[in-house]
Amino acid sequence: MKQAVSRIIERLEGRMPETALVLGSGLGKLVDGVEDAIRIPYGELEGFPSGGVSGHAGELVSGRLGGREIIILSGRVHYYEKGDAAAMRLPIEAMAAIGVKRLVLTNSAGSLREDLPPGSVMLITDHINWSGMNPLIGEESDRRFVGMTNAYSAAIMDQLRETARTVDVTLGEGVYMWFSGPSFETPAEIRAARMLGADAVGMSTVPEVILARFAGLEVAAFSVITNFGAGMTGGELSHDETKEMAPKGGERLGRLIAAWLGTGVDA
Ligand code: HPA
Repeated sequence: MKQAVSRIIERLEGRMPETALVLGSGLGKLVDGVEDAIRIPYGELEGFPSGGVSGHAGELVSGRLGGREIIILSGRVHYYEKGDAAAMRLPIEAMAAIGVKRLVLTNSAGSLREDLPPGSVMLITDHINWSGMNPLIGEESDRRFVGMTNAYSAAIMDQLRETARTVDVTLGEGVYMWFSGPSFETPAEIRAARMLGADAVGMSTVPEVILARFAGLEVAAFSVITNFGAGMTGGELSHDETKEMAPKGGERLGRLIAAWLGTGVDA
């Protein structure tokens, strides 16, 4: 991790961002609003993920959003790529090492609720991990027993609700359930997820939330709803649909995040 941390510090030229943002599939446009961007390709950072998924660039971008310093991790690795739930451990721990205090995660997701149609933005208030996977499996220190009762920061959620009201962004809320992917869920799995109390399903974020809490970071997370869950509308699901729909909610999510940063979350 040393090389990545010193390289980031060197390239940031004294900037001290306290918030980092991980961009999900189809949400790359959020980077466009960043001022005075310094871009570091993941290839320059030892241990950062290489390769990637369609819709993901693979670079760390530092700059100002809403007038505040931020780091954007544009490009993440999913469990389904190599079967490694801890693939984002080094980047997340590197964020903590350079002084980042809070991690904001974004993803695109399938909705299980009629009142959260495609295009909606959902604040993730909690999650369900019934995957059997955990990025801390194999970690030997007792720090591995991470409490998840307050995984999603209540204080940040309150700030976001307030900001959403002031900038007139409709912000849904709900529980996100992690499925490994890369195949989509079956209609029976979607019915089961609803019974278990999930509001949205997706293939990311949960491992990063666990890793961020392990690293001592505060967490907030959002889903941009790109489709209804399998079997809810009859049609087949596709990654093309995810990429096409994500920017629709992504624009409002970008506005919300920039406005929230502008309210002085670092104060
Ligand atoms: N299921 C899982 N992941 C997703 C979905 C979905 O319906 N939509 C976008 N990402």
